Amino acid sequence: MRRAKADAYRLPRQVLPVRYDLRLEPDLMAATFAGHETITVAVSRPTETIILNAVELEITSATIENGKGRSRRAAIGLDEPAERCRLTFPSAISTGTWTLSLSFQGRLNDKLRGFYRSTYKDASGATQVVAATQFEATDARRAFPCWDEPDCKAVFATTLVIDPALTAVSNTRIVSERREAGKKVLQFADTMTMSTYLVAFIIGEIIATPPTMVGKTPLRLWCVPGKQHLAKFGQEIASFSLKFFEDYYGLPYPGDKLDLLAIPDFASGAMENLGAITFRENALLVDAQAATHAELERIADVVAHENAHMWFGDLVTMSWWNGLWLNEAFATFAEMLAVDAWKPVWRRWTTFGVSRAVAMIVDGLHSSRPIEYPVRAPKDADAMFDTLTYEKGASVLRMLEQHLGPAVFRNGIRDYLKRHAYGNADTKDLWVSLGRAAKQPVPTLMNGWIFKPGYPLVTVSLGKNGRLRLAQHRFTYLRKTKGGRAGGAGRWCIPIQLRVATAGKSGSRRVLMTGATLQVKLPKRADLILVNEGGHGFYRVRYEPALLKRLLRLVPDGLAPIERFNLINDAWASAVAGLMPPAEYLDMTRSFTGDRDKNVWAVLLESIHTLHRIMEPARRPAFEALVRGRIGPAAADLGWAPRAGEDDLAKQLRGDLLRALGTVGNDRDTQARAAELYAEYGKHPASVDPNVLPAIVAVLAHAGDAARYAEFAEQYRTAATPQEERRYLYALASFQSTDLLARTLEKTITGEFRTQDAPYMVRMVLMNVVGRELAWEFVKKNWDAMDRLYPKQGLRRMCEGIVGLTTPALERDVRTFFRERKIDLGGKTLAQYLEQLRIAVALGERAGKALDRHLGDGR
Ligand code: BES
Ligand code: ZN
Repeated sequence: MRRAKADAYRLPRQVLPVRYDLRLEPDLMAATFAGHETITVAVSRPTETIILNAVELEITSATIENGKGRSRRAAIGLDEPAERCRLTFPSAISTGTWTLSLSFQGRLNDKLRGFYRSTYKDASGATQVVAATQFEATDARRAFPCWDEPDCKAVFATTLVIDPALTAVSNTRIVSERREAGKKVLQFADTMTMSTYLVAFIIGEIIATPPTMVGKTPLRLWCVPGKQHLAKFGQEIASFSLKFFEDYYGLPYPGDKLDLLAIPDFASGAMENLGAITFRENALLVDAQAATHAELERIADVVAHENAHMWFGDLVTMSWWNGLWLNEAFATFAEMLAVDAWKPVWRRWTTFGVSRAVAMIVDGLHSSRPIEYPVRAPKDADAMFDTLTYEKGASVLRMLEQHLGPAVFRNGIRDYLKRHAYGNADTKDLWVSLGRAAKQPVPTLMNGWIFKPGYPLVTVSLGKNGRLRLAQHRFTYLRKTKGGRAGGAGRWCIPIQLRVATAGKSGSRRVLMTGATLQVKLPKRADLILVNEGGHGFYRVRYEPALLKRLLRLVPDGLAPIERFNLINDAWASAVAGLMPPAEYLDMTRSFTGDRDKNVWAVLLESIHTLHRIMEPARRPAFEALVRGRIGPAAADLGWAPRAGEDDLAKQLRGDLLRALGTVGNDRDTQARAAELYAEYGKHPASVDPNVLPAIVAVLAHAGDAARYAEFAEQYRTAATPQEERRYLYALASFQSTDLLARTLEKTITGEFRTQDAPYMVRMVLMNVVGRELAWEFVKKNWDAMDRLYPKQGLRRMCEGIVGLTTPALERDVRTFFRERKIDLGGKTLAQYLEQLRIAVALGERAGKALDRHLGDGR
C-alpha cells in the first residue's frame, strides 16, 4: 500500500476521532435532515487544520474546545471531488484531547447510499417513506462529517429526533426516550469501538417481530407493515447462526441486541451494520411454504453471512479496502459452515462448487486481479466487492481449512479474533494466528493464492515407470499473443488430494505440489485415478484421454457429486479455452444425462445457455433439438410433481430442468403443459409444487404474447411476497418479442421498476438473444439517465450484460462505446467484462461449424 502521506484519498493522522456524539433530525416528507455532532478527538501533533470526510453536506459551523479556555471557530472549506472538508483554525490546536462540534444539513437522497429515502405503498395505496442508511464502503461521509476510513474506529452515541408516529432503529439499544418540542427523541447506547461504515439508522413506520433470545441477545426482524408473517424463516436461521458463531468463534456476540431489517429499496443484498443488519426484502422475508429451495437457501445464506460479519468484519476489521477479502471471503466461508450445520441435507458445500466455478471464470482472465489488490479511490473500493473477493476468497479459505484440518483452522480463527478485537488486521495477521494454531508457516502455502492473480491447471498423465505425473500451468481462456507469456506464468503451492483405486479398493492420498511438476508413486495396476478428491481445491484438472475415459465410466454413482461437477465443469472450461473441441464437450455431456445432481446439471445448463447465445440464428432450431435430447429424458423421469420422500434438491432440479426444456429447449409440449398447470394453479394454488411454479412462469414468459405480458406485469405489481414479485419481474425480461422487451426496457428508466432492480432487468435483456441489440441501443441512448438514477453497483452489474453481446459487430460497437465515453467501472471491472465478451465471440467463431455434426441428428 502507498504511504498515507502520498495518497490524496487517505486522511492525515495527527488528529483522530475517539467518540462521536451524533444527533440527527430527519424530515422524511421533505427528504432532508439536520445534524449536529460532537467528536472527541485525540491530537497527536499541533495543527491549525483538521481534515475529515464529508460530501453533499452543508456544514454550517465548526468549533473546537478542550475545556480550558474559549472554544475556537474554524473556517470551513469543502472539497467536493475529494469528498473532504478542511477546518482551519486561527491558531494551532495543541496535542491532547479536544471536542470538535459540527452542525450540518443534508438531503435524504434516492441513490440508496449514505442517508437515503426508501418508499413503499401502504395498505391504502398511499406512498410511505422509510429513511435508511448504507455506508459501506465510503458513504458514512454523506450522513455526517467523519474520519471515514475503516481503521479510524471510534465509539458512536446516536440520538435520533423523529416524528412521534415513527419508530427508529440504530446499532444499539435505546437508553432513553423523551418528547421535545413535539418530537420523539431517542437516545441509543454507546456502540463498541467500531468503523464508520458500520453505523446505521433506520426510521419509519416499521414493525418488529417479538424478540427471540439467543443467550443474552434479543433478536428481532423488522419490516414495513403487512409483511410480519414473512419473518419466521429468517428469524430461525438468524437465531441458529448467531448461536453457531458464538460457539465457532469462541466469543460472545459483541453487540447488545440484534435487529434484522427488510428495507423496501436496498442497493445490495444485505449489510452487516453492527446490531442493525439491513436487507433487501427478498433476502430476508419469505413465505417458506411457497418458496423454492433456491430462494430459501438464498435467505439462509445472506442471514448467516451477515451474522458471521458481526465478529469477522465488525469486531475485527481489515485495515484498508485492499484487505476486503478478510471481511467478505471469511463471511462467505462462514456462511457455508453455518448453513451446512443448519440443513445438512442441502449439501451446501457441494452447491458452493457453483460459486467456486464462477470465481474460476473471472480468475481465468488475463484481466483478473489478486484477491488482495491496491485500492485508493472510493470507486476502486466499490469494485472490490466482486467474485474474486467473495468466492475465490472463500474457496481458498476452504482449501486451507481442509488442508490444516477444521479444528486447527478454527483455533487459528479464534486466536485472530481475540488478538485483534475492536481493532484492525491485515492478511499477515491472519497467517500468524493460523500458523500458530497449525504449528507451520502459512505464508509460503497461501501467499500465491492471495497476492497473485489466476490459478493452476493441473495436467495429469501416467508416466513410464508407473508413476503419476502432475504438471501445473496458469489456466487462461485466451492465449496471450503479443508480449505476454502463454498462460504459463505462475506457480502455486497446491494441496492436492488424490483418490487411487486398485482392484476395486480405493484410498486417499494428500500431496503438496510446490514445483512445476510432481511425480507420485502409484500402487501396481491402479485402475482409477482422481485428482482433487472432495473437490476443495481451487484448480482445474486435465486428464490424459485414457484416464478421463475411466473416470467417465464411473459417472454418476462412482464419483461424489462435487467430483462429477468438477469433471464436467473443467471440461466445459477446456472447451471455452480451446483446449477441447466443443463437439467433444457435447459428446461428453451425454455421459451426464443420467445424473440427478442439481449442481452437475447447473454446469450442463449453463453451457447450453452460452452455446445458444453464441449460435448463429440459423443453427438455433437444430441446437434446440439437441438440447431437448439432452434434457428431455431427465425431465420426463422427474415429471411435474414431487414424489413421496424426495429431498429439496431433487425438487429444485425438477424446476431447473423444466425451465430449461421450455426455454432454451423451446419444447412445445413443455410450454403447453406449463400453460395448463398455470391455469390450474390460478384455481388451486396448492396444485403446483413451489419449485415448479417459477419454472412455469419462466416458460410461459418465453413463449408468451402481449396478453401474457400484461398478466405478468400485473402479477408483479400485486405480488404477495418478495419472491413472487421477483419472479414476475424477471419474467418481464424473458419474453421473446422485441415489442414486449422494449416495454420492459422503458420501465427501467421511468420509475416503474425500483432502481434496486432496474439495472438487473437491463442486464437480463442484454443477455436475451432476442432483446440484446435492442437493449444495447437502449443503454447507449440512456446511459446518462442510468448513471444518474441507478445505485453505483447496479450500474456496474448492468454492464456485465455486455458479455451477452456475442457477435463480432456488437463486440466492436461495445468497445467503441466504452472507450469514447471514457467509462470507468472501478478496478478492473470493465476489462474483465470485455475479455469475457472476447472469449465468447471467439468460441462462437469456433463452435458453429464444428457442431454441425451434432446439430444434424440431434444427438
Ligand atoms: N458488506 C456486504 C454489503 C455490501 C456489498 C456493501 C457491496 C457495499 C458494497 C455484505 O456483507 C454482503 O456481502 N452482502 C452480499 C450478500 C452476501 C450473502 C454475499 C450482497 O449484498 O450481495
Ligand atoms: Zn459480506
